[in-house]
Amino acid sequence: MIAKIQELLAEVEQLQAANAEEVEALRIKYLSKKGAINDLMADFRNVPAEMKKEVGMKLNELKTKAQEKIAALKEMVDTQEGGNDDLDLTRTAYPISLGTRHPLTIVKNEIVDIFSRLGFTLAEGPEIEDDWHVYSSMNFADDHPARDMQDTFFVEARPDIVLRSHTSSVQARVMEKQQPPIRVICPGRVYRNEAISASAHCFFHQVEGLYIDKNVSFTDLKQVLLLFAQEMFGKDTQIRLRPSYFPFTEPSAEMDISCNICGGKGCSFCKHTGWVEILGCGMVDPAVLEANGIDSTIYTGYAFGMGVERITNLKYQVKDLRMFSENDTRFLDEFTAAN
Ligand code: DAH
Repeated sequence: MIAKIQELLAEVEQLQAANAEEVEALRIKYLSKKGAINDLMADFRNVPAEMKKEVGMKLNELKTKAQEKIAALKEMVDTQEGGNDDLDLTRTAYPISLGTRHPLTIVKNEIVDIFSRLGFTLAEGPEIEDDWHVYSSMNFADDHPARDMQDTFFVEARPDIVLRSHTSSVQARVMEKQQPPIRVICPGRVYRNEAISASAHCFFHQVEGLYIDKNVSFTDLKQVLLLFAQEMFGKDTQIRLRPSYFPFTEPSAEMDISCNICGGKGCSFCKHTGWVEILGCGMVDPAVLEANGIDSTIYTGYAFGMGVERITNLKYQVKDLRMFSENDTRFLDEFTAAN
């Protein structure tokens, strides 16, 4: 009997199992009622009395060893099988925090949303543009300083191809494809050859608006811009239009809103004037309509253009323009709630 127990002990030590079924088969073979160990237990009563102690101890040892071994095998196949199902090797070891929309995207979406409610549809154009769409079709004289190297990025070896310096170029893209009525809003990135500082960057974002139809007047422009300012900055916001000059509009104006930081009382942001400039606008110059194939004796229109960074600064008081392009998540995380 001792020999049999020793044999089984050696066998148990060597047990292997590849899956749960094999473990169960081993349990039945060794530990079940009809298993090998129980068979030995049944034979125990035939063991001579003087050997009972020794055989009993060996038998117990065998039983414990078999239980431990089979439990260990079971745990091994369980984790293997469970692990195979759940294991995702593409998962990062670090917790991933949820991103937010970029503040400029949040504000751009808000601008587009306000104008879409007024019937404006989206239009886009390329960032790498030709001189015609950026300047000539917009009534810039050949020697206009904006074409100068100091302002414009030229594509090397192609003086007629530039990185667009304003989204007014999209006006020309729309007019060449479509006759009035035209009512579009054109968001996009623009580039200027500026030294990067807290208050200037070599790229920024604009939203352009264009409305052309019969009998469009300056009053329409003013009303739409007032509505925009109040939707964007609050119902008490006031606007004022100051005469200005742009090659593509006549008359032209710059629009200020009552400073939303001090409520118009005067603060350092509005340089104690109570007003801050937010956009340029005007009636589309008939020369621009004609250059783009629209009959200026039938149609009139207005246009406006604003900087998204400027509007964002006013809404969120971002002091340094560079923050917008540094991808510092501590800055970006601050806009989670505005998302
Ligand atoms: N394109 C002008 C700029 O980049 C902004 C602008 C002013 C756009 C007046 C317009 C406008 O459509 O009517 O500064």
